[in-house]
Amino acid sequence: MDIPRLHPDTIDAVKQRVDIVDVISEHVVLRKRGKDFTGLCPFHDDKSPSFSVSPSKQFYYCFSCGAGGNAIKFLMEIGKQSFSDVVLDLARRYQIPVQTLEPEQRQELQRQLSLREQLYEVLALTAKFFEHALRQSDGQAALDYLRQQRQLSEATIQQFQLGYAPGGWQTLYGYLVEQKRYPVELVEKAGLIVPRSEGKGYYDRFRDRLMIPIHDLQGRVIGFGGRALGDEQPKYLNSPETELFDKSKTLFALDKARAAIAKHDKAVVVEGYFDVIALHAAGITQVVAALGTALSAVQVRQLLRYTESKQIVLNFDADAAGTKAAERAIGEVAELAYQGEVQLRVLNLPQGKDPDEFLKTHTAEEYQTLLQSAPLWLDWQIQQRLLGVDLNQADQFHQSTQDIVKLLGQLPNATLRTHYIHRCAELLSQGDARLTLRIEDDLRTQVRGQRWHGRSQKWQRPGDRTLLEESEAQLLRLYLHLPEYRSLIRESLEHRDLDFSLAHHRLLWQLILQLESAEPQASPNAHPLAATDLISRLYDRGEEFPDQLQQAYALFQLDEKTQRDLLRAPLVIRAATACMERIMCEKRCRHFLSLWEKLDHSASAELRQYYQQQIYAEKQRIAELDREQRQVTFHDLAQLPWVGEFQAALEQIPQ
Ligand code: UTP
Ligand code: MN
Repeated sequence: MDIPRLHPDTIDAVKQRVDIVDVISEHVVLRKRGKDFTGLCPFHDDKSPSFSVSPSKQFYYCFSCGAGGNAIKFLMEIGKQSFSDVVLDLARRYQIPVQTLEPEQRQELQRQLSLREQLYEVLALTAKFFEHALRQSDGQAALDYLRQQRQLSEATIQQFQLGYAPGGWQTLYGYLVEQKRYPVELVEKAGLIVPRSEGKGYYDRFRDRLMIPIHDLQGRVIGFGGRALGDEQPKYLNSPETELFDKSKTLFALDKARAAIAKHDKAVVVEGYFDVIALHAAGITQVVAALGTALSAVQVRQLLRYTESKQIVLNFDADAAGTKAAERAIGEVAELAYQGEVQLRVLNLPQGKDPDEFLKTHTAEEYQTLLQSAPLWLDWQIQQRLLGVDLNQADQFHQSTQDIVKLLGQLPNATLRTHYIHRCAELLSQGDARLTLRIEDDLRTQVRGQRWHGRSQKWQRPGDRTLLEESEAQLLRLYLHLPEYRSLIRESLEHRDLDFSLAHHRLLWQLILQLESAEPQASPNAHPLAATDLISRLYDRGEEFPDQLQQAYALFQLDEKTQRDLLRAPLVIRAATACMERIMCEKRCRHFLSLWEKLDHSASAELRQYYQQQIYAEKQRIAELDREQRQVTFHDLAQLPWVGEFQAALEQIPQ
């Protein structure tokens, strides 16, 4: 087909309608940064987010490769399409009538409406049909139900385009296929009719149900939820997956909630359609629902686009079953929360009510108040594990401790882990300060075990040992020879949850710690032992371990190269500990990967998920370390006179 010459009005209308953030976020994961969004540039091999999108200017720009332009330019580049093809696609997508300069081409274009366009059309018409049916005598019971049982106003019924699917087997079929002449295959593809299992013909999927249309972000109908009016099963019947409708990628009412989510910088996720409707009706509009499935990472990312500080509150039912359900429904958000990628909170309403029930006896303000005080997800989980537990009973105390260890072991961030270990120790000791310290120590040890320290060399790569040996040696040498850096080294190891992995290094470290704690002042920070003192005492102890410790004697001496390490101690400490941590992460990752691969079919879903979480956490941490390391490099290079040599040292660090 010749490229049609588009009418300038059509081009203008498309430019007016298109939203650059919507367009680009279908290709690039965007994060809000102030007024703009950033992400990884799709036009070059981008390692850190250099790609920026401005909603106010409707413009994108890559600070690394210089790519830039408006939404149309973006689509031309990404899809290798011509200008008019892109404009045509967008016109179809936004249902903008296409005018070409040659009128005869116009009809041709209209006939080329894609399958998707026709599906949108059929679904939009069906929603209107259901709305109309609600106002007929057939629909009276459904309308009464909405008004009386659900106490919904006329405005809300209209805003959500609620409707009624009449009883009978072929009511909608008759309307769409016989009356409106839509092809039967199309109506089937829209999920509205079902082929009979025996014989020919089709019947309506939704019969005698209250109909709730589900819209996409542009406000187009893509599917339906249908509620039974009596006790028929299932209570809710949903559209099947279609070309347009993917349950796991759709959030109910996001089209109506997104402005409020941005305004309040917070998204609320509830369980049911009517919870969303009741909350919106009460003026709380930053609310969406998943469609009866666990929240997927895609859904969470959709929400995060609108909340700058990444706040999501899950308001799920709180009865005993609800708690389990909440943990399941959290699904893939869990990982994001552990990583600190999302500030996840959990709201449980009193008496296990859902928001719809709650609002029948409470005001919107009361709901808002509870929303403000919803605990962070981790705090909520800790609460759940201590709920109804008698900590004075040894077995219950033990069980709760185990549960909490398992929980905290999943936190990849060392600072957070330290914080929560302390908090949990306080909770478990019920305010007994001396007990708190002991429990805190125990928890720390157990959480470390949980994180699998893996000295086993099985998961090590051939080059790792050399790297570990070099990094550990550097740290120990600094520790021995530079008393003023000892506390920094201890803190770095603690912070990164590291231990020495080579046997002779571990032995040396244990001896050092013993010698220090045997000092009368017992405060190695205030009065560190002089280097010569520490080393001579280690020589003394060496008699007891002739073979192992002698391997470490080399560290007691300094040569020209190691002398220079002393001059840039902070840098060496940072690089060496980062290198050690990275190797540990990789080992843990391989370890869990092999456990995961060995799972057989009978393994529990929890175990499978647990391994997946561990693998994911390690990978995230490795990426974080690499980012940190690059920053260190840039920052410190500027200050260092021995740039070339440092560069060489950096090449030792695996990418
Ligand atoms: P609930 O059973 O918790 O219902 O389902 P609810 O929202 O409180 O329902 P009402 O108030 O009795 O009408 C929560 C959500 O789970 C999905 C639906 O999305 C529903 O909104 N669901 C539930 C189904 O998909 N199918 C079902 O049979 C039940
Ligand atoms: Mn309900």
